[in-house]
Amino acid sequence: MQAAKGWKQSVCGVLPRRVLGYQGPMTRGKGGEMTHLWVRAEQRPNEERVGITPEGAAALVKAGIRVTVERSSVRAIPLDGYQAAGCEIAAENAWPGAPTDAIIFGLKELPEDGTSLRHRHIMFGHAFKGQPAGRELLKRFKAGGGTLYDLEYLVGEDGRRVAAFGYWAGYAGAAVSLKCWAAQQRGRIAGPVRKVASKEALLGELGEELAGLARPRAIIIGALGRVGTGAADLCTAMGVGVTKWDMAETAGGGPFPEVLQHEIFLNCILARPGCPVFVPASAKTDPRKLTVIGDIACDPTSDFSPIKVYDRATDWDAPALRVHDAPPLDVTAIDNLPSLMPVESSEDYAAQLLPSLLALDALDNGVWGRAKVEFDRHVAGV
Ligand SMILES: NC(=O)c1ccc[n+]([C@@H]2O[C@H](COP(=O)([O-])OP(=O)(O)OC[C@H]3O[C@@H](n4cnc5c(N)ncnc54)[C@H](O)[C@@H]3O)[C@@H](O)[C@H]2O)c1
Repeated sequence: MQAAKGWKQSVCGVLPRRVLGYQGPMTRGKGGEMTHLWVRAEQRPNEERVGITPEGAAALVKAGIRVTVERSSVRAIPLDGYQAAGCEIAAENAWPGAPTDAIIFGLKELPEDGTSLRHRHIMFGHAFKGQPAGRELLKRFKAGGGTLYDLEYLVGEDGRRVAAFGYWAGYAGAAVSLKCWAAQQRGRIAGPVRKVASKEALLGELGEELAGLARPRAIIIGALGRVGTGAADLCTAMGVGVTKWDMAETAGGGPFPEVLQHEIFLNCILARPGCPVFVPASAKTDPRKLTVIGDIACDPTSDFSPIKVYDRATDWDAPALRVHDAPPLDVTAIDNLPSLMPVESSEDYAAQLLPSLLALDALDNGVWGRAKVEFDRHVAGV
């Protein structure tokens, strides 16, 4: 009811396309209708990211795609840029009342209110790996006849994701790990972490925490990936020396005593069955320089997690879990790291996703077609 009311209010604020002076070709869906992308506000706490920038929105409008952007009280990128780009503006959380042919675009969860979903949604659904909440979401799509194009399953022909948040997750995860290490040097455990306005602000904050301390050395496993690259860049920016490992260095299957010879270990791999153990349970009491593990991949409950000294994720309020005293061993494993840097991660992700959004008129083909096949397969089972 609330949302439907919001929609009625919002249409009054919508600019007709002729006012925007658009002259170019119209991008149309299969039925000949103009493709309409509706960017919703995020409703999850601490979620300030958005998957499209004003520049990206301008490119879509130029390509003839109608773009509506909801107002948001938390979005990291202000609304005026979208307005200037020629987007129509709707009320916050008005998407349930959007026209049926609109494609609703957000990043994270919809409110779990059990309503049926009739639109096509682009978002991270977390629904295809047997998650209980995901099953409920699929049931809502089934009930309403809508479709989920899951951002995690937008893949190229090579099977690799076309857009991912990895780089800034790695950057932020390495920063939190360094904060944990700095706190240890002062006989403490890391306090709460909060989102930063910019990369420069993060580097400044970290510089103060590391002031007067000799730099530790870090080992990154998964160094050639997106997360590993971001983690290495943060370390380099802070003067922390890095040992970079990827598949070639771990192919032997372990054990890997070298990991314990670094003060910090940053796990940046995409773990799969058969993944070797990088830190065995015995590491707590083994002789070691290692005092901080940043499990940026953050999959502690998985059977094939390569880190055996802990079993639960940490969060912004308590980023470090002390798994051993004297000498200390802290693990930090936060699962929403990109949200700590909402501006940079939004801009980076949006740039990667834009080419796919520009192909939205071909929802049956390419990345969208492959994501639809994945949805159809899973929704059939609920
Ligand atoms: N904590 C968070 O907020 C957050 C955010 C984004 C991504 N992630 C996670 O980070 C992980 C990495 O993501 P990505 O985008 O960088 O993936 P990616 O595919 O770009 O990179 C993974 C890298 O790990 C390497 N690798 C895989 N198995 C390895 C092994 N056994 N030994 C050595 N190297 C190995 C690969 O060769 C690759 O270079 C994923 O599990 C992802 O879900 C976490």
